[in-house]
Formats: sequence, C-alpha cells, structure tokens
Amino acid sequence: MAGELLKYSAEAALKLLPAGRLALLKDGLLAARDEALNDVELWQSGGAIPEAKQPLDAGFIQWPEELLADLRANKDTSLVGRLEACAARLQAAADSLVVLGIGGSYMGMRAMFEALRTPFHNEMTRAQRNGTPRLYFEGWNVDSDQQKVLLNLLDQRAAANPNSVDGRTALIVISKSGGTLETAVAFRTFRELVERHHGQDAQSLIVPITGEAGRLRSLSNAAGYKDVFSIPDGIGGRFSVLTAVGLLPAAAAGFNIRALLQGAADMTEHFRTAPYESNVVLQYVAVGHAFEQDAGMTCRILSTWGSKLEAAGLWYDQLLSESLGKHERGATPLTVVNTRDLHSRGQQHQEGRRDKLITNLLPGAPQQIPVTVPQHHLDQDKLNQLAGTTMPRILQAAIDGTNQAYADDRRPTADLVLPTINEHALGQLFQMLMLATVVEGRLVGTNPYGQPGVEAYKKNMQANLGLK
Ligand code: PA5
Repeated sequence: MAGELLKYSAEAALKLLPAGRLALLKDGLLAARDEALNDVELWQSGGAIPEAKQPLDAGFIQWPEELLADLRANKDTSLVGRLEACAARLQAAADSLVVLGIGGSYMGMRAMFEALRTPFHNEMTRAQRNGTPRLYFEGWNVDSDQQKVLLNLLDQRAAANPNSVDGRTALIVISKSGGTLETAVAFRTFRELVERHHGQDAQSLIVPITGEAGRLRSLSNAAGYKDVFSIPDGIGGRFSVLTAVGLLPAAAAGFNIRALLQGAADMTEHFRTAPYESNVVLQYVAVGHAFEQDAGMTCRILSTWGSKLEAAGLWYDQLLSESLGKHERGATPLTVVNTRDLHSRGQQHQEGRRDKLITNLLPGAPQQIPVTVPQHHLDQDKLNQLAGTTMPRILQAAIDGTNQAYADDRRPTADLVLPTINEHALGQLFQMLMLATVVEGRLVGTNPYGQPGVEAYKKNMQANLGLK
C-alpha cells in the first residue's frame, strides 16, 4: 500500500440506532460482497450471463489491479504506459485541452481536476502549470452560449499564436456508446475548430475514447486518429473513471495515475479481505441501509468541507442515482459544500423533515501553508481575539459545531475522512463508493448496472430532431 487508507466512522449516527443493529445486517452484507466479487468471475468466464444479471458491468472491481500488473509486466507497452505517453504528447503539442463527454464520461475527471488543481489553473502561465495544458470540459450540456464562448476563446488563441503551442487546442472526446447526442454535437463543433486551425495535425491532436463499436468508433477508424483508446466492455460509464476515460485526461493534467490506480487497488483489497466490522465499504452501506430501513432516511447528504470535493460529490450523486434509482426505490443523494451551504440548506438539514443521513466528507490535512487571521488596529469586528488562528482551525470549529448541533437534535451524521487530497486518496474514494453502490444494489435486489430510464428522454429528443 502506497499511503494511508481513508477512514469511515459512524459513531455519532449509531447512537441513534438500537445497539447491535449493524450486526443484524452482517450476513446480508457479506453475501452481497460475495455476489459482487463473484460477478467479476462470472463476467470473466465469458459464459452466458443469466438474464436477471444483465447488464453486468462488474469489470471495474479488479481493473485497477489488472492495470498495475500489466504495467509491471509490460512497462511502456502497457495500457498505463501508452496512456502516459499519449498524455505527454498532448501536453507538448497543445496549451488548451478540451475534454468532451457527459455523465460518467466526464464527471470523474472533473472531480479529479477540482480536487487536485487550483480553481485558477487556467489563469496561470504555462510555466506555472508545469507545462500542463489549460483544461476545459464541454459536451456535457446543450448550451449554445457557453460553447460559443469557449470556441471563440480558442479561436482567438489560435489566431494570436499561429506557430506556437500556446495557440493549439487538443481534444479528448469520450463516449462509451459513441452515440450520445450532446457529446457528438460538441465533437463536431470542436473538431471543426481543430481541423481548421491545425490541418493534418488534427490527427494527433484529437484522441477519442470509446467502446469497441458505435458511431464514434466508426468515425475514429475513418479519420485515422493517431491514438484511440477503448472503454472495456464490462465497465459501464459511471464505473469507468479509472479506465482511459479518467486516466488519459488525468495524466494530461499532470496527475499521477499510478498512485490513483494504487489507491483503488488498495481499496479493493481492503473490501475483499477486511472483516465486516472494520470494512469501510460494508460499514458505509450498512449505516445507509439501516437508516433508510428503520427511519425512512432516504436522503443521503454528502457534506463536503472546504471547496475541493464538490465535483467528487457530484460524481457520486450521479453514481448512486443512476445505479440504484430504479423500480421506484433508491436513496436520493445530495452533495453540499460547507460552510457555503450551511447558509442555504443548513436550516432544512437542522430542522426540516427527518429523512436525511449526513455523511461528512473530510479533506484531511491542507496542502498549503494555512491562512491565518491577521491582527488589525481597527478591531470593531472583534477579530483580534482570533489573530493568528489558522483557517483550518476555524473550519474544524464549524465542523464540530455543526455535528454537535445535529447530534443535539438526534440527526445522524457519519464521517468519511481522507488522509489528504491526493491521487492515492481519490483512487480509494472512487473505488470505495463504486463498490458500496454495487454492494447496496445486491443487498436490496436492484441491479446497479445499466440505466434503462435514461433512454426515454434520448429517444424523444432524437425523434423531435427527426434523427435516425
Ligand atoms: O453511467 C452511465 O453509463 C452514463 O452516465 C453515461 O456515462 C453517460 O450517459 C454518457 O454515455 P456515453 O459515454 O455513452 O456517451
């Protein structure tokens, strides 16, 4: 293991359940873990998948371990080696990188970008960015103004720097099905820009990541792009963050994708081997399930503290909603950022309907030298008494104060604590939440894979446009 494991503690919440409540769920959860792990073998066996199990996208579970083994055995020619080489090529070739994708095809990378980079990354010089490109996300909506502003910006950059890397834009276009309209339309518009400015170089500036078949795959074959990466068959969109989908843009942004994979592999190993009582995945599912069953707490609030983990929460919102929101069941996830949202949702969480389990997602040690409150000769705000106090200390006071206020009103809170925010911790977090989602699905008899409900809007949208 290359770093500390994240911690989960539900001590405060458990005071609100009868003693021994989680022990009653032990057999069911161990069976759900076995089922989730057996699904990997079932899928790998290549045999017929029983109808009740379809679709089965369990490939994400052992995938990080497989990629690391491939890296050890095949080094530069391994998938990780090839992704890193492609990322280095994109970094050297272009100063703007646009990642096109929607849902599971971009939310994981967005989570990593917001967690590991400053919000001002794109405002920094290339040297300050250590030669990594400016990064933009598109194709995740149908917003003409927003897209136009970015297209114009990239156009202007190309016109102002015709012969330098500063003017060049690269594209990573991601769609597993290859047919998602939002992404496909954005790919047309951004492809046109890259081809217009960079001519033949577009072949190497555009990197598609897609399934083995589909429209994007056919288009990529026809265009002859230098690099095209595959999303494996047995890994669904929202479980694909640790495939090329998240790894290529992450490597291009300068993240350590080996540490990311190691974090995920460490979590899988913990999930497989740790006893029920100390298994963070199983305990996390047990607590959520117990409060849903016993107290009708169907809202799962992921309360992120500080500003870096909001997109990780949004990634999880999508994972839980699409995986378990089926058959008129499934908890409703909601990510909040505190202390920001204490001033918008805090009232409801403190005194509203008792349908909420709150899990604090705590970021661990700060990475920069902490800000401290300065002394000032004008003390009308009475803050000289805090002079020298660090911002993390103020945040901790808010966390403790909020938890205390919830506990005093018998509102359950639990903590998910990252050792710090780095690639290893994020790899663990992604894998933990994906495993937890699958285990909960198996526990309650909902197939966590697939999202049949999303087809209805797609079909209607295509019909409205007269598309075939
Ligand atoms: O989890 C999923 O499968 C979805 O959220 C997809 O990622 C999303 O709909 C995008 O699909 P695609 O990658 O096929 O464009």
